[in-house]
Amino acid sequence: MNKKIKNICCIGAGYVGGPTMAVIAHKCIEITVNVVDSNKARIDAWNDNDLRKLPIYEPGLDKIISKTRNKNLFFSTNVEMNISKADLIFISVNTPTKTKGLGAGKASDLKWVELCTRQVAKFATGHTIIVEKSTLPVRTAKVIQEILFKAQDESSNTHNSKTFDVLSNPEFLAEGSAVHDLLEPDRVLIGGEDLEPIKILSGIYEHWIPKEKILQTNLWSSELAKLVANAFLAQRISSINSISALCENTGADIYQVSKAIGLDTRIGEKFLKAGPGFGGSCFKKDILNLVYLSEYFGLPEVSRYWEEVIKINEWQRKRIYRLIVKNLFGTISGKKIGILGFSFKADTNDTRESSAIQISIDLLNEGANLIIYDPKVSKQQVEFALGLESNENNDSIKNPSLEQCAYTSNIYDVFKSSDCVVIMTEWKAFSEINWDKAARDMRHPAWVFDSRGVANKKQVIESGLNFWQIGIG
Ligand code: NAD
Ligand code: UGA
Repeated sequence: MNKKIKNICCIGAGYVGGPTMAVIAHKCIEITVNVVDSNKARIDAWNDNDLRKLPIYEPGLDKIISKTRNKNLFFSTNVEMNISKADLIFISVNTPTKTKGLGAGKASDLKWVELCTRQVAKFATGHTIIVEKSTLPVRTAKVIQEILFKAQDESSNTHNSKTFDVLSNPEFLAEGSAVHDLLEPDRVLIGGEDLEPIKILSGIYEHWIPKEKILQTNLWSSELAKLVANAFLAQRISSINSISALCENTGADIYQVSKAIGLDTRIGEKFLKAGPGFGGSCFKKDILNLVYLSEYFGLPEVSRYWEEVIKINEWQRKRIYRLIVKNLFGTISGKKIGILGFSFKADTNDTRESSAIQISIDLLNEGANLIIYDPKVSKQQVEFALGLESNENNDSIKNPSLEQCAYTSNIYDVFKSSDCVVIMTEWKAFSEINWDKAARDMRHPAWVFDSRGVANKKQVIESGLNFWQIGIG
């Protein structure tokens, strides 16, 4: 077995693969890191000289990329060649929820994981450590092992014999703080069967992470712990969101309640911010995965328990949409509504599962006209996420129409003649809005619906606008 890792390959240049490999390259200058992806446009964007065009926006990432790219960090579409050179391979491909077949709507679609495992089985040479970086259902390592060990058996006694070790090393970074989370993680988790490969992977992280933060478990605990971590985080958000509705009905204030409970060290203060519901590519998919696994293992009570976390999330979105309609005299048809923020959280350009999508679609389906502003999300991303189609030649289309939805890169356009604005993302700029200027341009009586609790309440009210804030009412 090779003791020193000289060449790493990461399959999947997405939100996890890109930043994680950039940080490894930055901290381990003696290792060459090749990030490969079958999506050429994505690889071209990673290689763009203009760092503003990187495919992912993450604070601090451009600086690390400029220090490492084309030195010991390379982005390429040549999957086969980079697999064959690698001593260690991270599998960091997408694992979305299955849309058809057995387990549709709940189980993870492992198509991409299986496909790249087969590529590894075919093109790897010598001894290779395979690391699951993607979030996977518990016991996926068994599938990966079966494919790889078959290739190992077939290659033994040939001049091109190959051997494999399989580890689980889930990623806990959050978007918007990915670089910080990678540089200073709470913990690194490595699951495996043999000590030697675990030690080798641990050695990479030990370049910058204290050894006591690197936790070693068996494969199945590592795979399951990742799903459970996301489920617990999402559960806290659904818990506080359910209480936000109770606050609005009782005169209690969600910020005061959050603070009061968060100071109990057993509860802790993080992840207690009420909002429009959690978004992002993972919370929903990972809980659904847990729900599916529980059903599969004959534990319907466990499965129903976790399913409620998702149901409350969907209810919170509907609740916000309904109260907007109610406060605008029960009808929004033909009215203009400004949407402030479209990404699923601040400091990212990612819109996957953003609550802004469902709330916007509900408002459009009621006949409203929207104008959307987000500092990092493009017009094309918005149109794609909302499934907008032109109704110029076809009045019968079911999706919201392109004509109902405008996009602007100037925040103050959002207020012009609008009946209300809805703050969907907690971008810092939204706490600095000049509400006097905004109010002058709106059609009165006008409303501000702040689903993130970031607007300056005093200024909004003094400017003559009606104001609703999450958890206060
Ligand atoms: P992503 O969709 O941004 O990136 C995945 C990439 O893999 C895509 O660019 C795709 O083209 C590529 N790919 C798929 N199959 C391939 C193949 N056979 N060969 C080459 N390239 C291939 O996904 P992501 O957000 O980076 O998530 C990846 C995994 O990490 C998921 O399992 C996710 O649950 C997990 N995760 C994500 C985050 C996050 O913040 N996004 C955090 C922790 C864990
Ligand atoms: C989440 C986890 O935090 C990461 O640890 C994990 O690695 C990642 O999922 C993953 O597996 O993909 P992420 O989805 O990027 O990270 O971002 P979070 O900060 O967790 O936010 C998720 C959603 O919850 C956002 O819509 C955010 O606005 C919302 N949220 C978060 C709240 O509404 N309130 C809070 O107090 C915290």
